[in-house]
Amino acid sequence: MQIGVLTGGGDCPGLNAVIRAVVRKGIRHYDDELFGFHDGWKGVVDDVYEMLDIDRMQYTLNQGGTVLGTSRYNPFTYDPDARAVFETVERHGLDAMIAIGGEGTLSCTQQLHRLGLNAIGVPKTIDNDIGITERTFGFDTAVTIATDAIDRLRTTAESHNRVMVVEVMGRHVGHIATWAGIAGGATRTLIPEEPFDIGDVCRSLKKRHEEGHRFFSVVVVAEGAKPQDGTMEIPPDVYDEFGHVRLGGIAYRVAAEIESRTGYETRVTVLGHTQRGGTPTAFDRVLSTRFGVAAIDAVHDEKWGSMVALQHDDIVTVPLDEAVAELKHVTPELWDTAKQFFA
Ligand code: F6P
Repeated sequence: MQIGVLTGGGDCPGLNAVIRAVVRKGIRHYDDELFGFHDGWKGVVDDVYEMLDIDRMQYTLNQGGTVLGTSRYNPFTYDPDARAVFETVERHGLDAMIAIGGEGTLSCTQQLHRLGLNAIGVPKTIDNDIGITERTFGFDTAVTIATDAIDRLRTTAESHNRVMVVEVMGRHVGHIATWAGIAGGATRTLIPEEPFDIGDVCRSLKKRHEEGHRFFSVVVVAEGAKPQDGTMEIPPDVYDEFGHVRLGGIAYRVAAEIESRTGYETRVTVLGHTQRGGTPTAFDRVLSTRFGVAAIDAVHDEKWGSMVALQHDDIVTVPLDEAVAELKHVTPELWDTAKQFFA
């Protein structure tokens, strides 16, 4: 078969491991020809690609980023029928496309499938917010990096009697913040699913500090965390060229409030893209490899319009439209567990 592969949306550790697995099984087992389109759906529209083979993917298993490049480009923004995509598919006689991406890329893949494209999706995002799959690759790496940062911040916070506010990624959901908060023993964690009351946060920090012989705290804030209405001023949202809210910076507002309301010296660390760069953890390498192998199998089983997913530790295929129907949020059980350790 002739198969196109692309990576879309924000990059994520493990993307290369997926491509490598698709290429390895595609060539060795199925005798496929693999077209690697550059920069997400933009490469398909502009017909920019390279032929992928086993040599090209050598030494990429543990390499962060994506050898294909990525973008948030959506072909429907410029043409409601996304004709350029179908022209490229026709020009090269492609039998299928494998799209590796997050919510935006997979929704676009689902729309293209409805218009007749033979498409398979692979879920990626450090945010872990894609429905139906229990895990997306990249999440474990991001949590590991954030936990390491919290461990490091804790010792310096303790030495200086400071409050450390650490901001992690998570635009609509608080999976990274909740997991890293539990793993790092955060004093308090703020997530998008649970709007916070800064007065309550400050009171609990004060109580903890008044009780302890050393007063230090680590507050973990997801970038998409929001204060309860009317409790705190936050600046208006800023958007990027693809209409995505550009987040990052809520930690500075939270820290300023903590310092002015409690008088405790407070410092901010925004982890930002360090959570997305560099080598994937062993867990993410294995999950990415399993997803890649399952994706090429799904192509040969002609499971068009489906996405590979992790369920009960098995790799399965699920309908793309169900996967993108709603975001996966932090469960009440996990949040309740996290709360048991808050000040
Ligand atoms: O969706 C993944 C993610 O890492 C979010 O957590 C974050 O808000 C966003 O991407 C930032 O992406 P960029 O800076 O590349 O626009």
